[in-house]
Amino acid sequence: MYTVGLTGGIASGKSTVADLFAQHGVTIIDADIVAREVILPGESAYKTIVAYFGNDIIGNDGTVDRAKLRQIVFTHPEKRIWLEKLLHPLIRDKMIAYSREAISPYCIHVIPLLIETLPHPEINRILMVDVSVETQIKRLRERDHLDEIMINKMLQAQISRVERLDHADDILMNEGHLDALADSVKKLHGKYFQLAIT
Ligand SMILES: Nc1ncnc2c1ncn2[C@@H]1O[C@H](COP(=O)(O)OP(=O)(O)OP(=O)(O)O)[C@@H](O)[C@H]1O
Ligand SMILES: [Mg+2]
Repeated sequence: MYTVGLTGGIASGKSTVADLFAQHGVTIIDADIVAREVILPGESAYKTIVAYFGNDIIGNDGTVDRAKLRQIVFTHPEKRIWLEKLLHPLIRDKMIAYSREAISPYCIHVIPLLIETLPHPEINRILMVDVSVETQIKRLRERDHLDEIMINKMLQAQISRVERLDHADDILMNEGHLDALADSVKKLHGKYFQLAIT
């Protein structure tokens, strides 16, 4: 299955772009959604995580308390590395499995940390949604009502725009109107369709 990896910084417009491709019938597989699936009770990773972090990590509804988990790994880098080593291969395998079931000519994997987690042999082409840091901050503030300190922390935790641009095969500038974005997506869809069938 020809696979496009869609990435970009926080609030750059990844979900917006993914929705636009979905309107052309393209199958979208979202790493954030799959990351939630692989830790559900009944999955092997659930037991492994509870064994490592203790029963305190289980929320009232019996699932892994993701907010608590995020907080722990934010302050304990070695625990974050342990967790990523466990989850990344599981997430990748499940995304590849979903791709095999897809009936569209190509599919899109939405992976916020795509560049941070290279190499990705399952990805044929990298599409980056790009906005200026100013726009990123503005949209993040409007969407999530975050303060400047939190926004700066989140931006600093990611690789830079320049590094991301360096790895991108295609770039979608998302500074303008949504209509312009939809036009660019339509053009790219035509390109990916051709690449997928040749
Ligand atoms: N061209 C645009 N013009 C105006 N607003 C936009 C545009 N593109 C996206 N937005 C808005 O910016 C915000 C961020 O977009 P979106 O949620 O698609 O980004 P994201 O990259 O998926 O974010 P996250 O990293 O949190 O998953 C949303 O509120 C969205 O509606
Ligand atoms: Mg999103």
